Amino acid sequence: MSDPLSSVPAKLLAWYDRHHRDLPWRVPPQAIAAGTRPDPYRVWLSEIMLQQTTVEAVKPYFLAFTQTWPNVQALALAPQEDVMKAWAGLGYYSRARNLKKCAEAIISQRSGKFPDDEVGLRSLPGIGPYTAGAIAAIAFNKPAVVVDGNVERVISRLYAIERPVREAKQDIRSFVEALVPMARPGDFAQAMMDLGATICSPRRPACMMCPLRDDCAALAAGDPERFPLKIVKAEKPARRGAAFVAVRPDGAVLLRKRPEMGLLGGMTEVPGTAWTSRIDGETGADAAPFVSDWRFSGQITHVFTHFSLTLDVFLAEVDGRMALDESWWSTPSELPLEALPTVMKKVIEAALPGATRKTTAKKQ
Ligand code: ADE
Repeated sequence: MSDPLSSVPAKLLAWYDRHHRDLPWRVPPQAIAAGTRPDPYRVWLSEIMLQQTTVEAVKPYFLAFTQTWPNVQALALAPQEDVMKAWAGLGYYSRARNLKKCAEAIISQRSGKFPDDEVGLRSLPGIGPYTAGAIAAIAFNKPAVVVDGNVERVISRLYAIERPVREAKQDIRSFVEALVPMARPGDFAQAMMDLGATICSPRRPACMMCPLRDDCAALAAGDPERFPLKIVKAEKPARRGAAFVAVRPDGAVLLRKRPEMGLLGGMTEVPGTAWTSRIDGETGADAAPFVSDWRFSGQITHVFTHFSLTLDVFLAEVDGRMALDESWWSTPSELPLEALPTVMKKVIEAALPGATRKTTAKKQ
């Protein structure tokens, strides 16, 4: 007997040919069919950026990066500081450091060429199993098994898997492996992602428009949204702290660099307290870096992977004569170009609305 789902790859690819998303890093299926190959540099860069962030958030960063550094050689030669600044806001700053390292390794050890298989790709800094599979499939048309969160949802529904994704990872991989077509594995990987992102959405999936509606066990069972099975999440631990925005009469803001190691390593911040789970004198206005007329100007929250952070923000107008170790004044025109992580942008915006926004390039 033939596999009841054997028509799935062909249906999915036919749908992708008509309904694929136009993405700045993507070569559309018609161009692939005509023989165009994607640029591995652009595929690699996009996959690193997309590791934890949405397509919409990545687009402007991808365009800015590829304009400034159009190829792997340009990125390998870029000053680390410039790469960090261009990355600011995407999060996971170790990725920006690995990005540079990877570009350097490709230039110095591989004559500027990306390896074309998963094993070779995985040997490079910052490229894990998922990213290696995605690059091998998309850039080099290798039949790699590419499973991201979207694909996990599609497969959980297609096969009505009665376990949370965390417990079904291996089965999901096996299902995908059995579906990957030898002819167009790169398009297939992207088609799965697009189906998950557009039709097979977490809530209210558009099943009536789905090319796989006749094959979907979750739809046949009457409640596709029930899949993948949910697990009840524990709340993230809370941490507190204070941040101090000192502003000079010319609008310059006092900044310092975070330690290289640890969370947001090497990024820029305003002076502040430690971020702790205790609420005590060390996390309030008394902990300011110098005596001034500090005024409370709001509270911000930011959710990191392992905790959620609430910071009280204080503002003081100062004459700029005080000196702190390892700090500098950043003028209003310099401030938007600093390597400020999102949490610090929130802090400065709470005290000085608009101060961190670039006036030329608009972010979406
Ligand atoms: N998510 C991760 N990689 C992607 C890609 N290449 N296209 C769309 N979404 C993605």
